[in-house]
Amino acid sequence: MNHKKQVPLSRANRLINHGPVILVTCIDPSGNGSPGKANIITLAWNMVLSMSPPMVGIALGRGRYSHELIEKSREFVVNIPSIDLLEATWGCGRVSGRKEDKFARFKLTPLPARRVAVPLIAECSGHMECLVKEAVETGDHTLFVGEVVEALADPSLFSDHWVETERGIQTIHHLGGSLFLHQGKVVDVRHPNQ
Ligand SMILES: Cc1cc2nc3c(=O)[nH]c(=O)nc-3n(C[C@H](O)[C@H](O)[C@H](O)COP(=O)(O)O)c2cc1C
Repeated sequence: MNHKKQVPLSRANRLINHGPVILVTCIDPSGNGSPGKANIITLAWNMVLSMSPPMVGIALGRGRYSHELIEKSREFVVNIPSIDLLEATWGCGRVSGRKEDKFARFKLTPLPARRVAVPLIAECSGHMECLVKEAVETGDHTLFVGEVVEALADPSLFSDHWVETERGIQTIHHLGGSLFLHQGKVVDVRHPNQ
């Protein structure tokens, strides 16, 4: 009766991969938070961990430049992109801040945050400013546990929850590889018009 087919363990994460994809900003603390020293990383692996105090978790591969920055500065900002930022979301997950200023490359605007030195991304729909409380090693990633000390959202898109606008709900979700889910449809960022 059980018709389920084995999923390769290397693909098992994709069964629950598709929460909203986020853009996490972080800074090199030795750069005093100047925009040129800020970096952006695209992350599919993120989760809510606590209501009170509000806490979230992000899993970063240990080789990532952003991993190094968050480990040093102990702060990060979760920025939630809308479908308009699909290209930038893909791009920030394909190049490293070790080599490029991703704000400049993807035409994103850094905005001062309220409670942390890390900038927000102005073009995103919502933001959570976080202080790192714990870093847990998980296989080849580190789970950074952040306490949310400030949260902001565009009121036309979020009011108590993400709301349906004329253009639907705007969040994007990563299925794996170059495939994203938006409003129930699969979008291939490599072939956007198919
Ligand atoms: C859609 C998407 C989702 C990603 N999710 C994660 C993730 O959850 N964790 C992670 O460590 N890397 C993830 N990556 C890979 C990083 O974003 C990528 O390695 C990035 O270039 C690292 O940048 P950095 O070296 O500037 O930190 C993802 C990439 C894409 C395109």
